[in-house]
Order: sequence, then C-alpha cells, then structure tokens
Amino acid sequence: MGVFPLLRLLADGEFHSGQSLGRSFGLTRAAIWNRVRAIEGAGLPVFKVRGRGYRLAEPLDLIDARALEAALSECAVRFSVDLLDECESTNTALLERAHAGAPHASALVCELQRAGRGRRGSRWQSGIGTGLTFSVLWRFEESAGSLSGLSLAVGVAMVRAVAAFGFDHVQLKWPNDLLLGGQKLGGILIEVSGDHLGPSFAVIGIGLNVRMPRELSGRIERAATGLEDATVPSRTPLLARSLCSLGEVLPEFARLGFGPFRDEWIRRHAWQERMVTLRIAEDRVAEGTAAGVAEDGALLLRTARGIERFHGGELRLKEK
Ligand code: BTN
Repeated sequence: MGVFPLLRLLADGEFHSGQSLGRSFGLTRAAIWNRVRAIEGAGLPVFKVRGRGYRLAEPLDLIDARALEAALSECAVRFSVDLLDECESTNTALLERAHAGAPHASALVCELQRAGRGRRGSRWQSGIGTGLTFSVLWRFEESAGSLSGLSLAVGVAMVRAVAAFGFDHVQLKWPNDLLLGGQKLGGILIEVSGDHLGPSFAVIGIGLNVRMPRELSGRIERAATGLEDATVPSRTPLLARSLCSLGEVLPEFARLGFGPFRDEWIRRHAWQERMVTLRIAEDRVAEGTAAGVAEDGALLLRTARGIERFHGGELRLKEK
C-alpha cells in the first residue's frame, strides 16, 4: 500500500490514532509510522501527539473522484477520466496510451507527478494537493502541422476556467504560459503525433499552481505563484471547469483553428506593446515590440524591419 490511502484519511486535518489507522488498513502501527514518514518526506508536515495520534498540519485538498464525475456530466464533451495517485508524467503516460489506441477525449489526472515535464526540456515541479497536473488526448482529422495555434487556444480555455472562479486578471505569455501578477501560474505542454496528411493527435498537458507553499517555490527556478487568495478554489471543481472549458474550446479549434480565439488571446496578452527579446536559437535573438499574435498562433514583433512573425523561441521582457 502506498501513502495515498492513508493521506485520504488524514486529509481532514483531524487527529487519527495510530491504532485506528492500523485497523483501517490491516497494518501494524510501525507500518503506519513508516508511511507517515513517507508523507513528511513528500513535503507534508504531520503532527504526532502521544495519546491522540497523527494529524496533517493543514487539511489536504485531494481530488474527489465522485464529485469530479458529477461535475463533468454537465460538460459539452464526455471525457473519459483516469485519476492516478502517482505517476511520472501525465503527458508521458497518455502519449503511450494514445499510441496504443486510447480514445479521443481521454484525460489523465495525477495527484503526485514525480517527473513532470515542461517545454524545452525543463521540469514541472508540483506537490501533493497544491496544483493540477493533467493531460487530455484530442484526436484531429488534420495533420499535426495544421495544429499551430493549438497551445494558444488551450491558454484561452484555461484563462476562462480560472476566470469562472473570480480570477479574471490571469494573463497569457506567448506561446503558452499563464501569468498572475507577472509570475508563472501555469504552463502548457503539447505533444503532437500523426501522419503527414492526417489524422493526428495531441496530448495536451496542463500544470496549474493552485497553492504555492514555500517548500514548492524553493524547488522552482523562476518566480512562480499560485491562486493564493482567501477564496482559493478547491481542486476538484477547478479541474472539472478546466476540462469543460477545454471541451468547449477544442471542438471549435478543430473546426475553425485559432482565429476565433485570437482577439481574446490578445486581450489577455501580458506583454502586448512591451519591448521583448525572443531567443530563437543559441546565437539568434530577435528584438522588438510585442504586437500580438497571428491567426496561426505566430508571435508578431514590430521590429526595425516592420512586423515579423515567429513560430518558436523563448520570450523575455527586455530589461530597461
Ligand atoms: C511549461 O510551462 O514548460 C509546460 C509545463 C507543463 C506541465 C504539465 S503538468 C501535466 C503534464 N505532464 C507533464 O509532464 N507536463 C505537463
């Protein structure tokens, strides 16, 4: 038995005696103690009080599978969701399943992602109960080459999802970061595969920080934030709303491309009309004023040569 069954009992933040926990799982008190240590090792402090037992320092917001299913029944798209306690990376696992024939609109959600992947070989760090880490498989009739702009449309879907909880000041950074107060709130990793002329599929991976405990921010290189607020939404409805929002955006993207989402993306563009640099390759950097995005999702920069379009690279604000 891993630590999650125990965590589900401790999630209420109340005291549970070692004896009652042992009885619930048919484990000795020593075996419970070992798992408590593993929980602490995963970054969740546990209080131990003689005569009372164990309790988490704070209640833990784990995903409620039943509530998720109920909320998803209201969605435009019927997702087939698999909720795992632990995995290496939801993108890696769903890519494997996609190649093995997993159906369209499969979703894979993981409570603890041990080796989350970000763009350009970076790592995506997350903790237990702190954020959302999930991937969605979407099959397209067109070739993978026609999916440029998909990650921007997904950004719009996620901005809409968090706005539904009152976070209507989340912004987008090209090509697919979510920013809150200028700091990274979420990231999108899209991996596509398919025939030259279609069909194709995309595994759309989303990492969203909900809470940002110090232990987690210490593991993240760049400034990152969560939806820190008195009214921070619980993860289950947030996940359901994110999936439903994707279920609204993706079919429209499949029919019409990024075009219908372009104006909304630009309204949310964090660096619109700011001076930026775009590192395209080790020895190639473009510089200009961010002038929005094109209908195919290309970044538009106003440079000395006029409006130029870019399809890849790492964007930074230009230091003053
Ligand atoms: C980035 O900002 O670089 C993209 C981060 C994407 C992280 C998510 S978490 C769920 C999914 N599984 C992964 O391994 N990565 C994506």
